[in-house]
Amino acid sequence: MADTAKTATLTIDGKEIELPILSPTLGPDVIDIRKLYAQGDVFTYDPGFTSTASCDSTITFIDGDKGELLHRGYPIDQLAEKSHFLEVCYLLLYGELPSATKLEEFENLVTNHTMLHEQMMYFFRGFRRDAHPMAIMVGVVGAMSAFYHDSTDISDPHQREVASIRLIAKMPTIAAWAYKFSIGQPFVYPRNDMDYASNFLRMCFAVPAEDYEVNPILARAMDRIFTLHADHEQNASTSTVRLASSSGANPFACIAAGIACLWGPAHGGANQACLEMLEEIGTVDRIPEFIARAKDKNDDYRLMGFGHRVYKNFDPRATVMKQSADEVLELLGVENNPKLQVAKELERQALEDPYFADKKLFPNVDFYSGIILEAMGFPTSMFTPIFSLARTVGWISQWKEMIADPQNKIGRPRQLYVGEKARDYVDVENR
Ligand code: SDX
Repeated sequence: MADTAKTATLTIDGKEIELPILSPTLGPDVIDIRKLYAQGDVFTYDPGFTSTASCDSTITFIDGDKGELLHRGYPIDQLAEKSHFLEVCYLLLYGELPSATKLEEFENLVTNHTMLHEQMMYFFRGFRRDAHPMAIMVGVVGAMSAFYHDSTDISDPHQREVASIRLIAKMPTIAAWAYKFSIGQPFVYPRNDMDYASNFLRMCFAVPAEDYEVNPILARAMDRIFTLHADHEQNASTSTVRLASSSGANPFACIAAGIACLWGPAHGGANQACLEMLEEIGTVDRIPEFIARAKDKNDDYRLMGFGHRVYKNFDPRATVMKQSADEVLELLGVENNPKLQVAKELERQALEDPYFADKKLFPNVDFYSGIILEAMGFPTSMFTPIFSLARTVGWISQWKEMIADPQNKIGRPRQLYVGEKARDYVDVENR
């Protein structure tokens, strides 16, 4: 735990309460309020947790003012350029970059867990064909606790490790099969002679009727997109996984809860909502109309892919994603993609507008990702499943950290009650 030399003094009704201040490796100090209710008979109040640290963690650090994102201390732009997703998974899970031997062992372990229990195929078939792939992901991942009983005991470190590898390894298969089911094509099995991103692309786009060659440029872009989405501190879906796990629920059920939370358009669903917004705008001449709506206090319309609770500067992932969008679309010969043109002009006009500048609203990770994914051949409904696939390692790493923390206890917030005082029941004839 961090240094506790400093304290904060709170005076309530003349009574002084001294609270320890904990100093982190990076970022703001925190006031330790764990004894506040016992000493002062008061709660703190922070809907949306805008000023609340829910835990201590060693995994990811974000400096919203500098637009900095570190995974175990390594900047995201360096990892996106020099590393690859499974190496980033190892880093997030175990805290250090692996040796070549350790990396090979880890990649082989993941590769050999990519198949699903064959019986799960029937579970997919229980959905309507037009089910949103995220609905299928939530259901199938939750159902893994009904198929993998030998890795649900969270008190057993070995079972925790097996569950972690199974989830990271099987998410591409689940996401790809959710897509195949939604388009009425047969499931494609993973192959052990392919890397993680290539396997996923092949499971999504190959058909039994012909051979399928993965485009190495798209595989590299896919792998980088996974890296950019891997973890992000205590965001809504990670906090959901932590809270669900705090009751001792099994990891598959907890990750299913994280997928459900990520689905929302304010969170991971923004990549789908952003592309639908760019489609609705259509041409650059309509941009001012949409910017005006986003600024209108009487209109709850927001620019999807813009703004962030933490980043009050550029989201460093958006910067890398924008570069990748330019590269991939040029390599695919679609650099004049109208949505990319609209996105770039929308970004330019918004960033020149005092409303967005004053509120420190910048493009976030979701602003450009959809453009690349659509160019790769994915429908918008697959954007958030891909986000879920990549974020699984972040959820699992944070879950493992929490389970192993001796301070771990069930999360149970209190409230500011503003309802009725106690009153007696009234019989229906007297109401
Ligand atoms: C992700 O937390 C994470 O780390 C998430 C994530 C991750 O990797 O896990 O980074 C992934 O979820 C990225 C965010 C994707 N969501 C969107 O792109 C949806 C559009 N953006 C927003 O709805 C919003 O910006 C949030 C939800 C992202 C952040 O909301 P906050 O922090 O609660 O901010 P707020 O709603 O209090 O907004 C502050 C002000 C408000 O105006 P005022 O009431 O002060 O006058 O900014 C305005 C908002 O109206 N505002 C926007 C806006 N976002 C905020 N106005 C127009 N367009 C927007 N996009």
